[in-house]
Amino acid sequence: MTELTDHSARRDFLYYATAGAGAVATGAAIWPLINQMNPAADVRALLSIRVDISGMTPGTQLTVKWRGKPVFIRYRTTEEIAAARSENVADLPDTIARNPNFDGDVAATDAHRAVPGREEYLVMIGVCTHLGCVPLGNSSGDFGGWFCPCHGSHYDTAGRIRKGPAPENLHIPKLSLSDELILILG
Ligand code: FES
Repeated sequence: MTELTDHSARRDFLYYATAGAGAVATGAAIWPLINQMNPAADVRALLSIRVDISGMTPGTQLTVKWRGKPVFIRYRTTEEIAAARSENVADLPDTIARNPNFDGDVAATDAHRAVPGREEYLVMIGVCTHLGCVPLGNSSGDFGGWFCPCHGSHYDTAGRIRKGPAPENLHIPKLSLSDELILILG
């Protein structure tokens, strides 16, 4: 019995040792491939873009293309901000902010959706979270934000899904905004 256990233990050890060595060898083999996939400096530059939004006025929207997708930049009116803030997050279909500028899954309050420190600006990926159509802006839909005509999803003035088949709030890109109102995406 003892002998069997010893054999079994040795087999296990050999198995783990082999698996470990295999993992290292595989890692060493695929690293050059992964490294080749890292974009060159000129390509990396395109991964981040700067947009001057200093000329925008309340109630206007700018759409720019970034990483192949439309990005909505909205200068919200005080009414739009007030409407977004009056909602109770617990009542929303998606209670997560979907904002990578905060750590973790923060609640979908208006403050967690808008540009930090400049709540009049809302910047979102303009792709419906249902099947990827581009929603219509300019206070569209039943909640005065955006409306996706493909299957009828309504987003509010913070870009949160309120009605229709879309499962998530419009996503927010990684961004920063300078005092001179230069928006950097990426
Ligand atoms: S893609 Fe927008 S509602 Fe279906």
